[in-house]
Amino acid sequence: MGRFEGKVAMVTGAGSGIGRATACRLAAEGARISASDINAAGLAETMALLAGEGHHSQLLDVSQPAACSAAVEAAVAACGRLDVLCNVAGIAGAYRLEEITDELWARMIGINLSGPFYMSRAAMPHLLKTRGNIVNIASTAALVGQVYNAPYCASKGGLNLLSKALAVEFSKQGVRVNAVCPGGVRTALTQAFRVPENPDGELFARLSSLVQPMAEPEEIAGAVAYLASDEARFVTGESLTIDGGQTVS
Ligand SMILES: NC(=O)c1ccc[n+]([C@@H]2O[C@H](COP(=O)([O-])OP(=O)(O)OC[C@H]3O[C@@H](n4cnc5c(N)ncnc54)[C@H](O)[C@@H]3O)[C@@H](O)[C@H]2O)c1
Repeated sequence: MGRFEGKVAMVTGAGSGIGRATACRLAAEGARISASDINAAGLAETMALLAGEGHHSQLLDVSQPAACSAAVEAAVAACGRLDVLCNVAGIAGAYRLEEITDELWARMIGINLSGPFYMSRAAMPHLLKTRGNIVNIASTAALVGQVYNAPYCASKGGLNLLSKALAVEFSKQGVRVNAVCPGGVRTALTQAFRVPENPDGELFARLSSLVQPMAEPEEIAGAVAYLASDEARFVTGESLTIDGGQTVS
């Protein structure tokens, strides 16, 4: 029996990278998946990769609160319950402070921080019924300052503490909330990572991990699966760093 037999998991950002690997891993362990993404083509590719049957998919922009509420209700209507919410959708990109427009700031906070908040708020009534849990994909940018990364650090640092705040608030009702903090992972996000012109090499080197090469999305998905499973019954409010030693002090 897989760890997620009979369970339903919602995964945002499921059309690529860590979200796709997470959806595939949870499905391989028996979960019925409700996958969502803003990218229809990527989402369709993921759906074709999922083991098992009865999965559900929908287009979703997590920065839109009403859409998040509707997506949670649609997932529960299609799959009958909700046990796990994985907030994976996110964007990145490095900018000097003077390059950060109001629009860029609002977009990064809207997708990386407000999105998981909207999803968690909508999902909580259903997770309370199943004593389910939430896994948020934060980042090492949630743990240490990173050069040219102010909006990303602010969004992921906020997400890390959103996780801890909800972990405390719902601890007595049996809903766990955890975060994973990856360093560099080989996905479309890192392949297209935008760097400012003439970066300070010394400061930029602080982003390097000690272990090479960088992580594969499946390695992050394995940690998500552990945190989302009953094996992690006693784990809540945790920020699990998977960074090849990048933030070891
Ligand atoms: N790749 C890394 O090195 C790394 C490191 C730390 C944290 N993370 C985080 O992991 C998460 C997944 O990143 P990834 O590396 O797999 O990147 P990715 O670009 O491969 O996947 C991100 C997915 O999110 C989707 N998305 C973007 N905006 C969205 C929106 N508004 N609504 C719904 N979906 C949206 C994209 O379409 C894409 O499918 C992100 O939150 C990212 O910040 C990634």
